[in-house]
Amino acid sequence: MNPLHEAQIRDHIHDVSFNDQLEFHVLKTIGSTNQYLKEITPTENMVICCAETQTQGRGRFGRSWHSPWGENIYCSVRIPVHGDLTQLSGLSLVVSLSVIETLRALYPEEAFKIKWPNDVLWQQKKLSGCLIELMTAHNANPYVIMGIGINVNATIANDTPWCSLRDITGQLHDRNKILGRLIPNLHQAIQSLWSQGFTTFSEQWQGVDALMGHAINVFTLNEHLNGRANGVDAQGRLMLVDEKGQPHYLSAGEASLTQPIAPLSCT
Ligand code: BTN
Repeated sequence: MNPLHEAQIRDHIHDVSFNDQLEFHVLKTIGSTNQYLKEITPTENMVICCAETQTQGRGRFGRSWHSPWGENIYCSVRIPVHGDLTQLSGLSLVVSLSVIETLRALYPEEAFKIKWPNDVLWQQKKLSGCLIELMTAHNANPYVIMGIGINVNATIANDTPWCSLRDITGQLHDRNKILGRLIPNLHQAIQSLWSQGFTTFSEQWQGVDALMGHAINVFTLNEHLNGRANGVDAQGRLMLVDEKGQPHYLSAGEASLTQPIAPLSCT
């Protein structure tokens, strides 16, 4: 398995001036790459931390993120936030759209989808997840940390709701190449989000929305809702229409399909 290597990641980033602005921390073992970026001094640069393993990898809602040595991508990206924090709405959707854009360019024959807000799926199985954390302090500029986990070379048992690129393609993949493609895509997408808002991603979102039109249930911090998914609004909020036809706009939560999607039958 090819180890993570800063020079090799940089070789895949062809914009020289963008490459020069990046600060990399390529580590062997760390508790969590998100946590690491919280603890080093913030700068104006885009700072990227990736590691061969995480001993305390974290997922959304306080779950842990399994991080076996050398197999997958565990990467966090930190950027300062200038301007209005409301522009950050939709960020987690945009991060997963960048993951999909990267994977699509590398594996054009595969159909990747996103389960709102940011689970990247392949055939209903989770391939990648993102953990977005906004850091604010009264005497410092706010910054955001985007933690991305992508299952790359792990082999994952068939009877689980997870998958990896290796499971999908039957091959091993170069994590340095995937990271080198992902980072510029992510940077470009964030610039578009901040300058134009989430509506600029609406069409792209509709093309990969795994929930659209399906019966779903959603757990938020303070409620549990059932209904039908009806896409996302101009801020990236999930629109759920309940059984009374009442729309609900959800900014955060955990969504799942109420009924599993039946496999397509060929006649
Ligand atoms: C989720 O789907 O629950 C989010 C998973 C996020 C995992 C990544 S791996 C790199 C970064 N460091 C962490 O501790 N978590 C994120």
